[in-house]
Amino acid sequence: MTGVVDRVVIVTGAGGGLGREYALSLASHGAKVVVNDLGGARDGSGAGSAMADGVVAEIKETGGEAVANYDSVATPQGAAAMVQAAVATFGAVHGVVSNAGILRDASFAKMSDEQWDAVVQVHLYGGYNMARAAWSHFREQKFGRIVFVTSTSGLYGNFGQANYGAAKLGLVGLMNTLAIEGAKSGITANAVAPLAATRMTEDIAPAEFLAKLPPAFVAPVITHLVSEECTDTANVFVVGGGQVQRVQQFANAGVQFAQPPTPQEVAQKWSEITDMSVAVPGKNPLG
Ligand code: NAI
Repeated sequence: MTGVVDRVVIVTGAGGGLGREYALSLASHGAKVVVNDLGGARDGSGAGSAMADGVVAEIKETGGEAVANYDSVATPQGAAAMVQAAVATFGAVHGVVSNAGILRDASFAKMSDEQWDAVVQVHLYGGYNMARAAWSHFREQKFGRIVFVTSTSGLYGNFGQANYGAAKLGLVGLMNTLAIEGAKSGITANAVAPLAATRMTEDIAPAEFLAKLPPAFVAPVITHLVSEECTDTANVFVVGGGQVQRVQQFANAGVQFAQPPTPQEVAQKWSEITDMSVAVPGKNPLG
C-alpha cells in the first residue's frame, strides 16, 4: 500500500472551495473519502445536503469511492458521526483533513460575543472534535494522519479577524501536542495555511491576485501530508499559487539574568532581548 491508496480519509467542509479540491485529489489517488459538508453559507448559516452530494457524485463519476456526510464539525456528535460513517462504509479511518470553516469578520472593537463564539466553535472546536473522534482509531491501528487547516490570519494576524486568527492559531497549538502524543502510535499532525480563490476570499483580495490562486495548487500538498510516505509531523506550511512554504517559530539566544532584574535592567537589555538577527528554531525549554 503506498500513498493514499485504500486509505480512508475524512475531509470536512469538502462540499466546495478548497475542501472539494482536497477530496477530489485524495480520491483520484486512490483514497476512500468521507465528503463532509454542512452545506451552509459563508457565515455558517443554513444547511443542506447538495454540496457534499455534488462532490461525491463528481468522485464517483471518475471511478473513485466516496460517501457524503452533512453533520457539523462544531459538535462532538457531528464529528463522531463522520468517523462512524467512515468505519461503517469503508471499515476504518486513517486520516482527517480538518478544513471546514466560516467567517464572521469584524474589527475587535465591534466584534460580538456571538461572532467570536461561532468562529471558535467551527474552527478550533471543529478541529478538536475531529481529532478526538478519530484518535482512538488511529492509536489502535498505529496509523493516523491529521491535517489542520490554519491561516496566515492566525500566523501573522489580519484586521477584522481576531476570532478567526485566534481559532486558527489555536489549531497549531493543538497540532504541536498531538504530534508529540501521537508519535509513538504512528500518528502525524500537520497544518496548512492555504491561499486560494474561493467564496471565502472572493471579496477579500483583488480579482487579479485571486486569479493566480486556484485551489488545485493546494490539494497535492494535503494529499502528500495524508500519505503513508510522509512521516513529518508538527510542520506548518503556507501553500498557494504554486508556492509551498514551511513556516516555523524561531528563538534568539536571549539574555540571561543571574538575579531577578529590575524593569530598568530589562529595558537596558531590551534591544538584545528583541534582536532576532541570529535565531534558531525554537524549542520548548520545559520538555
Ligand atoms: P469555503 O467557504 O468554500 O469552504 C468552507 C466549507 O466548510 C464550506 O463548504 C462550508 O459549507 C463548510 N462548513 C462550514 N461550517 C461547517 C460545519 N460546521 N461543519 C461542516 N462543514 C462546514 O472556503 P474555503 O476557502 O474553501 O475554506 C476552506 C478552509 O480553508 C477554511 O478552514 C478556511 O478558513 C481556510 N482558509 C482558506 C483560505 C483561502 O485563501 N481560501 C485562507 C486561509 C484559510
